[in-house]
Amino acid sequence: MKIHPAGPSVSQMPVDPALLRRALGAFVTGVTIVTTRTAAGDPVGITVNSFNAVSLSPPLVLWSLSLHATSFDAFVQSSHFVVNVLGRHQIPLSERFATTGGDKFAGVAWRKGLADMPFLDGTAARFTCRNAHRYPGGDHLIFVGEVVAFERGARAPLVYANGGYAELRDSCIADQYMGIPAV
Ligand SMILES: Cc1cc2nc3c(=O)[nH]c(=O)nc-3n(C[C@H](O)[C@H](O)[C@H](O)COP(=O)(O)O)c2cc1C
Repeated sequence: MKIHPAGPSVSQMPVDPALLRRALGAFVTGVTIVTTRTAAGDPVGITVNSFNAVSLSPPLVLWSLSLHATSFDAFVQSSHFVVNVLGRHQIPLSERFATTGGDKFAGVAWRKGLADMPFLDGTAARFTCRNAHRYPGGDHLIFVGEVVAFERGARAPLVYANGGYAELRDSCIADQYMGIPAV
């Protein structure tokens, strides 16, 4: 199939980033904490809602990381990352990992999983990924990961929309565990 090359930029006026962010808030997402570890073995994590599915076969997912994140170097240098999908009871965790500085993992229930990657406890789902591709994306770097293990728990996922947290109706909540466990 022929893929059309990228077209020229047709923007007529500068886009106001604050307005764009508000408009993007109409697209409802889940909330994840993407984790990895430094070369020294220290856990690193950041709250992310740019996570999305890409492909089922091969199994690929993506997310984007701000070039200004203090955890940037750790994610670029690591071979793997873990997408920890938060449950509706984990808003404090989301806020903690969205705040730069301090020891984000202090007092948090987590353990080392596949490739010594940090697994957060009590999440709605977890995807352990090998760093497969990275692409420049403006003020972010796009990570495409190959899913090497995954698990889904029975917990209801946390929802994010219009800059705030929301909850799913009970009928939308997964009720059974499934997956390919990492360990
Ligand atoms: C709901 C939510 C979603 C976010 N999604 C992203 C994201 O997709 N990519 C990103 O780089 N930052 C995202 N952030 C901001 C980071 O979590 C925040 O900048 C964090 O402090 C960066 O951590 P670090 O500087 O310790 O690396 C999000 C924040 C929130 C609250």
